Amino acid sequence: TRGAAVDFRFTEEQLMIQDVARRIAQEKIAPSAEHHDRTGEFPLENIRTLGENGLMGIEVPAEYGGAGMDPISYVLAMVEIAAADAAHSTIVSVNNSLFCNGILKFGTEAQKQLYVRAIAEGREIGAFALTEPQSGSDATAMRCKATKQADGTYLINGKKSWITSGPVAKYLVLFAMTDPDKGARGITAFMIDAERAGFHRGKTEPKLGIRASATCEIEFTDYVAQADEVLGDEGHGFKIAMGVLDAGRIGIASQAIGLARAAYEATLEYVKERKAFGQPIGAFQMTQAKIADMKCKLDAALLLTLRAAWTKGETEKSGGRFSTEAAVAKLTASEAAMWITHQAVQIHGGMGYSKEMPLERYFRDAKITEIYEGTSEIQRLVIARNETGLR
Ligand code: CAA
Ligand code: FAD
Repeated sequence: TRGAAVDFRFTEEQLMIQDVARRIAQEKIAPSAEHHDRTGEFPLENIRTLGENGLMGIEVPAEYGGAGMDPISYVLAMVEIAAADAAHSTIVSVNNSLFCNGILKFGTEAQKQLYVRAIAEGREIGAFALTEPQSGSDATAMRCKATKQADGTYLINGKKSWITSGPVAKYLVLFAMTDPDKGARGITAFMIDAERAGFHRGKTEPKLGIRASATCEIEFTDYVAQADEVLGDEGHGFKIAMGVLDAGRIGIASQAIGLARAAYEATLEYVKERKAFGQPIGAFQMTQAKIADMKCKLDAALLLTLRAAWTKGETEKSGGRFSTEAAVAKLTASEAAMWITHQAVQIHGGMGYSKEMPLERYFRDAKITEIYEGTSEIQRLVIARNETGLR
């Protein structure tokens, strides 16, 4: 970044929130991670504890119930939580970056007071509803419609799919078409209350990984949204979604780093203990090469993610974008996590494949980081479009 100096030191406050996250992650989350993975049970009690300690609204100012910290703190805390359990970190990530962040940036004072406080304190769960059965990567192809009525209210009808925390959320940020003829410029963001008539949750999706993060389809049938429940301006919803996803991608990059670090640290221990052909398997050059590559990918992912977080903090002051930095971080970290967890299973041999150790869970959990909040192909598209100016 032009004019940027490199300072690798964290502040006292950043280290403090990292410590708080690490303590809760190790004392509360890690011991129950296997249970939550096996049963798919939603970890409500742990989420409340995270909320009571400021971790459900890390960048939310104290006046709205959050910890009032910076984007670097968010990365450090997310890494610690994901190292204990990726599913917990998905729930934390959606609440922090997809829910709170968007309302703080685009919401009215009343919306901030009503929606952000309850979520940042962990009393309620938030969700972000953009994807539909026919529109994932091609997000503007959405069909969910919000039709303005004569009295100024909106009638919402349509389906959203794959909604993280959909089965448990009290409030959602919803993106719906208010003017289909205008494409991306015809999309509007709404604040939704899940307890109101016309809101229906589908069945919780069974998944390969992050099994304790509950995901479902949501259907709206004649749901009535009031005029003051529009988030930002009518027709600006797609820009809100994209801006919020830039922040979200830093969260997913951090998640990928956390779970990759857990797999790497377990591997470092194992290669020293496990013997074959009369020596620790870590003494074989083929294992050493894998360890070196794991270390390089992990460090690169962390540095690029910290750069993205730092850039977010700087550009937000000037109203700029940090899309490229966020996409570079998400792409690098998620592909690193997939590679590192794959190698970690291999290095553990049969034990890597066994449910007695968490390696197979890390491997299953890593895959989602290459899919949600924009697939790896979409990250490449964002980076290359921004770099070349071509599309
Ligand atoms: N910030 C602000 N505005 C942006 C923006 C950004 N980062 N990126 C694009 N825009 C604006 C553009 O400037 C453009 O505005 P104008 O009409 O004024 O010019 C408008 O948005 C449309 O942009 P594009 O023409 O680039 O849009 P596109 O249709 O080509 O799509 C895309 C671009 C990058 C592929 C986008 O659709 C995308 O990111 N798709 C992936 C969707 C995604 O990430 N979904 C995640 C769902 S949430 C989730 O997954 C949560 C979870 O797992 C836990
Ligand atoms: P598609 O868009 O159909 O893509 C299929 C394949 O085609 C992919 O490999 C993709 O990369 C490729 N492809 C598509 N377009 C291009 C292109 N232009 N160039 C090259 N390749 C391309 N969504 C929400 O709104 N809120 C949530 O909370 C949420 N949580 C999720 C949780 C989970 C567990 C999962 C699995 C998904 C979640 N999603 C959520 C949806 C997620 O963001 C989408 O699954 C993702 O964006 C991909 O969309 P898709 O599944 O429709 O795949």
